[in-house]
Amino acid sequence: MMTDPAPTPDQLVIRRPDDWHVHLRDGDMLAAVVNATARQFARAIVMPNLKPPVTTAAAGAAYRDRIRAAVDPALDFTPLITCYLTDGMPGDELARGHGEGIFTAAKLYPAHATTNSAHGVTDVAHIRDALETMQRIGMPLLIHGEVTDAHVDIFDREAVFIERTLTGLVRDYPALKIVFEHITTAEAVAFVEASGPEVAATITPHHLAINRNAMFEGGIRPHLYCLPVLKRETHQRALRGAATSGNPKFFLGTDSAPHVAAAKETACGCAGCYNAPFALESYAKTFEEAGALDRLEGFASEHGPAFYGLPLNQGTVTLERVAVTVPDRIGDVVPFHAGESLAWRFIG
Ligand code: DOR
Ligand code: ZN
Repeated sequence: MMTDPAPTPDQLVIRRPDDWHVHLRDGDMLAAVVNATARQFARAIVMPNLKPPVTTAAAGAAYRDRIRAAVDPALDFTPLITCYLTDGMPGDELARGHGEGIFTAAKLYPAHATTNSAHGVTDVAHIRDALETMQRIGMPLLIHGEVTDAHVDIFDREAVFIERTLTGLVRDYPALKIVFEHITTAEAVAFVEASGPEVAATITPHHLAINRNAMFEGGIRPHLYCLPVLKRETHQRALRGAATSGNPKFFLGTDSAPHVAAAKETACGCAGCYNAPFALESYAKTFEEAGALDRLEGFASEHGPAFYGLPLNQGTVTLERVAVTVPDRIGDVVPFHAGESLAWRFIG
């Protein structure tokens, strides 16, 4: 006898989520993008790769205040500030910033790995004092996990980083909390799964939704260029498996990284996808395709706070099954999914 398929829900209510990795920029761009994040997320881990980067507690506090001033007062949003690690970074500065509640975490950019990373770390041996301090005080280390060796193929840079740097880091600092940010490969998924509870990862909407084919579909698509670069479909599948598995080591981090359209539609375009305005809609699409809508709440709202040792948000947000068309442009920026229709709509 045939059984009726389970009815598909037309509303999805989840605990209010957080974004554990976002670029809010500064100045006019901050004002243009911050409310897209604040509308969907209660808190966000804000990346420090400004010009100049956020490398002191004083600069972190000032940036936090500029973000707060730019947020629509009707929205309840808490920016969580990160410190940009540089060679020789004193552990004291991190401990002070963390102790004063300014810095939630610190970000390791290998020097020249990506946008505004020129002041990044040239060798993890140069941040021993910082890492020892962070391990001692329980301050998470957030890692852009790519080698910068120009001889390593760009599609292999994350996997090679695991071999050359991350494995040793986890061995040498076994109690250090590490978030392997915006993972893009099956190797990264396997590494995080095999590590202890101190190692977790964020996964972006774009690395879940598309693979590197999309970057070249009918021509070159600069708005889909990000770093770490999109990988082949086998890796996309591994990421989708990890995100929708219910494993608490994997949680939401959009890596929303706006650049004005002119900076992407050019001979040497910037890396970054601006996905904040439809972030939850995009994740909901992926989770629905995987038959795992019931696991979206854990990924979006529970696993991150548990890892960071922060309270769960109170309150809920609702998505309804009403098609929404993503605009071709929002201000000067082309959003991820531009021109596409998404099945779930965030209604707050
Ligand atoms: O695509 C990216 N854009 N990857 C990064 O790591 C940095 C970001 C940015 O700041 O534009
Ligand atoms: Zn990022």
